[in-house]
Amino acid sequence: MKFFLDSAILPEIEFSFRTGICDGVTMNPSLVKKAVEELQAKGEKITLELYIRKILKAAKGSPVSIEVTALDAKGMVMQGKRIYKNFKAANKNLNIKIPVNPCFPGEKGKEFDGIIAIKELHKAKIPVNCTLIFTPEQALAAAKAGADFVSPFCGRIDDLLRKENGIQFGKEDYYPAKGLSKDGNVLEDNGIVSGVDLVKQTAEIFKTHGIKSRIIAASVRNARQARECAIAGADICTMPFGVLKEIASHRLTQEGMKKFTEDAPEEYKKMV
Ligand code: G3P
Repeated sequence: MKFFLDSAILPEIEFSFRTGICDGVTMNPSLVKKAVEELQAKGEKITLELYIRKILKAAKGSPVSIEVTALDAKGMVMQGKRIYKNFKAANKNLNIKIPVNPCFPGEKGKEFDGIIAIKELHKAKIPVNCTLIFTPEQALAAAKAGADFVSPFCGRIDDLLRKENGIQFGKEDYYPAKGLSKDGNVLEDNGIVSGVDLVKQTAEIFKTHGIKSRIIAASVRNARQARECAIAGADICTMPFGVLKEIASHRLTQEGMKKFTEDAPEEYKKMV
């Protein structure tokens, strides 16, 4: 499973590529907003376009997803083509992030605009990462339309299950892949018992039907969830910087380091 960084913060991106374990970057408008606000708070004056170019350069040709903001198929296709044309030279593995369905809560009539946009961009040979996926059937529809990547949002499914059942939680808290039980029943959303289960069911469907779109487990909140996404069959896990750092850590590693350092004889230290 590949590791992508889910961030628009340039120092995080640069550092992650330096580690050698980062294989790509995903961004969304909320992450871009956070990054830009951080820069503004430091008094930096940089245009968003220049900033994105720096991110694309830092990714050294690895995939980077940039999301559209339009809310209908026509607008998404137009923005997708424009982003691709404008930034493709800076990163040959650029892909366009398209929401599977751009309707707001309660809104109707545009349920297929994301799918149509994916189809059009695919026809124009522009790679698409379909985002905001919460059911395997949304992933299947996006794949059928030609999405190169589909992004099921794990953490947000777990959040929903906890919220709907009045369970208090912190954003990074672990949620069991097999789900949580209440009154003898496993909590579920439309047959999905956890974010990892969403990835697992999607991966099973793709395997059964020979679908080539790659699954990016997104909205991942902790290292254990990333591990379970790997077991569930995700091709890629995109994670915030904090989760990437957590992946290399364990308290026994730290304790072991302390003991080895204390025990090492001076002669040994000089020799190595
Ligand atoms: O890649 C999707 C991600 O940015 C959303 O994560 O933690 O806001 O659910 P989160």
